[in-house]
Amino acid sequence: LLASTGRHRDHMGNEIDEQPVVARRVLEALAPGIVDGSLWRGLGLPSLDTIDRVTVVGCGTSLHAGRALAGVFARLGGLPTRTLVASEAAHEVWEPRTLVIAMSQSGETADVLRALDALPPRHGTVLALTNNPSSTLARRSDAVIDCLAGPEVGVAATKTFVAQVLTGVCVALSGLSVFDRTDSARLGADLRALAATPDGLAAALDAWRGPCAQLATEYARASGFLFLGRGAGLVYAAEGALKLKELSYRWAEAYPAGELKHGPLALVDAGTPVFVVDNGDPRLDVDIAEVTARGGRVIRFGERVLTVGGVPLHLPRTGPSWGPLETVVPLQLFARELALRLHRDVDKPRNLAKSVTVS
Ligand code: G6P
Repeated sequence: LLASTGRHRDHMGNEIDEQPVVARRVLEALAPGIVDGSLWRGLGLPSLDTIDRVTVVGCGTSLHAGRALAGVFARLGGLPTRTLVASEAAHEVWEPRTLVIAMSQSGETADVLRALDALPPRHGTVLALTNNPSSTLARRSDAVIDCLAGPEVGVAATKTFVAQVLTGVCVALSGLSVFDRTDSARLGADLRALAATPDGLAAALDAWRGPCAQLATEYARASGFLFLGRGAGLVYAAEGALKLKELSYRWAEAYPAGELKHGPLALVDAGTPVFVVDNGDPRLDVDIAEVTARGGRVIRFGERVLTVGGVPLHLPRTGPSWGPLETVVPLQLFARELALRLHRDVDKPRNLAKSVTVS
């Protein structure tokens, strides 16, 4: 049975391809409300003068999208942020004047709903960021924003990740802009990067489709993979490792690259594949040298030019406060291509469900 739209037989392949269109839809709907703050105010969110911190809760891919979003409040707005695995939220201390952003594609994930139960009275405002605005999560939150991804069938989230990041970024930029929490040069740079995202995602698809297929053939027999990043790039490394685990059932670990020397470097042997999300941090060169000195094979995504099979490839450097979002595209493509070579069902990975309604 052919997937309803697109050229692939699986939904996931089509959902990956749809990401530039989804990004454009989100930006057309939300970007006009950023600079005048109408997006923030229209959601009924409180003044940032009454918010001391932002806490994001979520699971799986939604948690990673939340980490990217938290980076905007922190890097651009100087607001203290934390991101919580929803199933651990009950063990946290909650302070007043907190903006809680509950991230869930389905809006039905039990761990996220239980995290809301853990909130004390007068904790602050809860904003639900979901792909289902009539979900239980949406009903139980003070404010709701639809991430506009459209239905996602593949169990492993792809286009909802991009949609959640961009929706959250628009909301964050709107609040930071209207309450004057960022300097205009940095805000301007982020706004330009945001507008360039749909084309950036399309360029990443074009540039990496072939090379990722080639890389998957090359690494089909690898037993494990490391994913490294620093700063704003780290969340994409984490999402790449999660996609690989979900789809290929191979071990994949994501680490802040600076932690390599404190343990994971012991995993690196001749031929160990190490994926590096390059957000332009010059210290990554040192991290990479540590890997190559042990015979590890570095595959680098981001700013630099990479040569695969003699073909030079390039992803433009993206330095916005949410990090190099476009790098998630080759990581998704690689995970899918590897899974296909291993004869996995990329739409329905074993042991996993699209929406987990038990906690
Ligand atoms: C399940 C899915 C993951 C997803 C997570 C959170 O575990 O298999 O792909 O990221 O739930 O789902 P949510 O609907 O809350 O975003």
